[in-house]
Amino acid sequence: MIDIKGLYKSFGQLQVLRGISLKVSDGEVVCIIGPSGSGKSTLLRSINLLERPTYGEIWIDGKLITPPDPYLHFDVIRASNTYRHMAQERQLPPDSPEDLDIVRRIKEQDLLKPREGRPYLDLMRRIEREHRVDDHYTRRRIGMVFQHFNLFPHMTVMENMVYAPMHVNKLSRQEAEQKALTLLNTVGLMDKKDVYPATLSGGQKQRVAIARALCMEPEYLLFDEPTSALDPEMVKEVLAVIKALVESGISMVLVTHEMGFAREIADRICFLDEGILVEDAPPDVFFSTPKSDRAKAFLEKVL
Ligand SMILES: Nc1ncnc2c1ncn2[C@@H]1O[C@H](COP(=O)(O)OP(=O)(O)OP(=O)(O)O)[C@@H](O)[C@H]1O
Ligand SMILES: [Mg+2]
Repeated sequence: MIDIKGLYKSFGQLQVLRGISLKVSDGEVVCIIGPSGSGKSTLLRSINLLERPTYGEIWIDGKLITPPDPYLHFDVIRASNTYRHMAQERQLPPDSPEDLDIVRRIKEQDLLKPREGRPYLDLMRRIEREHRVDDHYTRRRIGMVFQHFNLFPHMTVMENMVYAPMHVNKLSRQEAEQKALTLLNTVGLMDKKDVYPATLSGGQKQRVAIARALCMEPEYLLFDEPTSALDPEMVKEVLAVIKALVESGISMVLVTHEMGFAREIADRICFLDEGILVEDAPPDVFFSTPKSDRAKAFLEKVL
């Protein structure tokens, strides 16, 4: 399961994600939709560690993949100098109304500083030690497919496919090529294994990119508008590949503007607007009876 807790992301003064909490269960397909600039790509990139959250944590299968966020742990806040000063050494029992008031104030007003004393640091380190995994763990489990394919232009299709399995997963060339051939076959591109990406159509490039992601045997696949850079006649072939993947039962988070497709394959639709998860509902519910005015306005424009 992917468990995103209270995710915030700012670039300088610009707040892009403003407190996103979202769970993706095993085998679930979650489609993320929303206006341009609402933070969809930033959310996906955060799951894949291409961005570091400003606040919040992301857990995968019970392991913490981001640095711990002190604001999500009341005991950490209580161990800080700031808390102690504010509580003025009064013996406040934990969870007493006054204690909770202080903890909430520290959290809401973002009062913690980088150095908060030894007990605070010890607790932060303990969370790291007990729960945090290194980036390799995440990169092996999560595959990502981008709008613009991101194939390595100086490598053949086959070299693109085997690079990460050999270097990250430490497969032998033979094992990696075997796997790559099987996957190229599934996406119907076996005959393209020795060509360079520049000679492929957009649809073919995207199918290679999907096969390349699968070559790492990820448990989760993230798609960021996988068809929006494609000519209309190529959209279908890529959606067909994604649909076959859905049927294989892999967990998926997909950002898309293809509303019909989202409705067809998603277990849940998450509607993002201005960095806030405004709605999270099964497709039938979302498309027939959106609750918020923002979702209604968005759907009126795109449907
Ligand atoms: N590295 C960055 N530095 C500064 N601003 C950024 C950065 N990445 C994204 N942004 C800004 O964050 C906001 C959200 O961007 P994001 O790409 O997540 O939106 P999106 O929902 O994926 O939009 P689209 O549908 O157009 O792809 C935008 O205003 C964007 O300009
Ligand atoms: Mg985007």
